[in-house]
Amino acid sequence: MKELLDRALADRYGVAAFNIINDLTIEAVVAAAAEERAPVILQTSVKTVKQYGRPQLFAIVQALAHDASVPVTLHLDHCPDRSVIADCLDGGWNSVLFDAHELDVAENLRQTTEVVAEARKVGAHVEGEIEGIQGVEDDLGSDEAAPVQSLEVAVDFIERTGVDCFAPAIGNAHGQYKRTPVLDAQRISDLVAATGIPMALHGGTGLSDEQFTDLIARGCAKVNISTALKETFMQSGLEFLRETAERGKWDPPSLFRHQRTAVLEMARRHIRLFGGSGRAW
Ligand code: 13P
Repeated sequence: MKELLDRALADRYGVAAFNIINDLTIEAVVAAAAEERAPVILQTSVKTVKQYGRPQLFAIVQALAHDASVPVTLHLDHCPDRSVIADCLDGGWNSVLFDAHELDVAENLRQTTEVVAEARKVGAHVEGEIEGIQGVEDDLGSDEAAPVQSLEVAVDFIERTGVDCFAPAIGNAHGQYKRTPVLDAQRISDLVAATGIPMALHGGTGLSDEQFTDLIARGCAKVNISTALKETFMQSGLEFLRETAERGKWDPPSLFRHQRTAVLEMARRHIRLFGGSGRAW
């Protein structure tokens, strides 16, 4: 993870981080990255880990991504639960987001420092967070905007914990935006200038091309996309099933092919937009 993000920060492109939900979406995202010659991040919500079981999900990722021709890394998205963090680090995840924004900053800092030490033992990396990202996703989070910490508090947290990447709240939100988001892009520039570490842009679905380009140029090296993947997967399925019902021909592999193409194209569009194409090594 660190290598993917440090390279992206240095050359100011974004590595797309897709919240995969099953085998089909893992395979389609990896295929898009391979076709674009781009590094890519597969991230899993705690819900997806629990749905499959940690060893089962890891085995699926391993089977579908291990021999990819481009750099692929596996990340655990927002996780407030230390036992799930420990379990995923133990089970082969390359990186985790310890989301302790509900704790006060001092306790968050103390526990994130422990998580960084735990991750280092297995050569893994850590994303840190001190402010809630607005919106509920996979049963986590809140629709209320959380308070934003000062630059000094955020920089102190990053320096003392040693996190590899940081997820600031800048007016971004998970899910579809209900109105055009007003983003504090300057905060990204300030955090990167003060710490030199890559920022994670949450709430990617629904941002404009200009917003992505600007934020990536300022140092958002990790760009998260979840809702767009879920909607693409479900809507392409719905579209296909409606036609299937009319024709009366029920062939599951045709449905899977249709959904795979839609998810692959969605991933490709984001990878290209973030400047990731041709960056694989
Ligand atoms: P979206 O669901 O808005 O794409 O956000 C994804 C995300 O930030 C995952 O943590």
